[in-house]
Amino acid sequence: MKILFLNGPNLNLLGQREPEVYGRTTLKDIEAKVRERAAQFKADIDFRQSNVEGELVNWIQDARGKADVIVLNAAAYTHTSVALRDAISGIGIPTIEIHLSNIHAREEFRHTSLIAPVCKGQIAGFGANSYVLAVEAAIIVNGAAKS
Ligand code: DQA
Repeated sequence: MKILFLNGPNLNLLGQREPEVYGRTTLKDIEAKVRERAAQFKADIDFRQSNVEGELVNWIQDARGKADVIVLNAAAYTHTSVALRDAISGIGIPTIEIHLSNIHAREEFRHTSLIAPVCKGQIAGFGANSYVLAVEAAIIVNGAAKS
């Protein structure tokens, strides 16, 4: 089983960026935690980050026939991107939306996710552990897709 983790803008700055909101764990450390958890399920991980919306769209499209599940932290694009939403609904790969912070407990503009309606579900508010939980969610979603 292959899980594609995609990270949107500014997540390359994790560890330094607003640590009171996002914690002190870097994206590299998060990737290591994800790989450790995935190894327990014998799942393959592809883990990427981009600040560019179109690059994220290209990666979603390219996942066809390669990834079983996509885990997406679209960061700020969560709240703005029709292009990401259309890419997710266009390719038909089950996608899980994740966030480090609880977007529903923050500013009003973060309460709306344009991608949520085309995702299987959302994990938000558990810091770096949102990513670890997403590995398990991906296994469940993949099992459900196959049974
Ligand atoms: C985020 C929440 C978004 O609102 C924000 O723009 C981010 C990070 C999170 O992981 O908590 O960049 O996706």
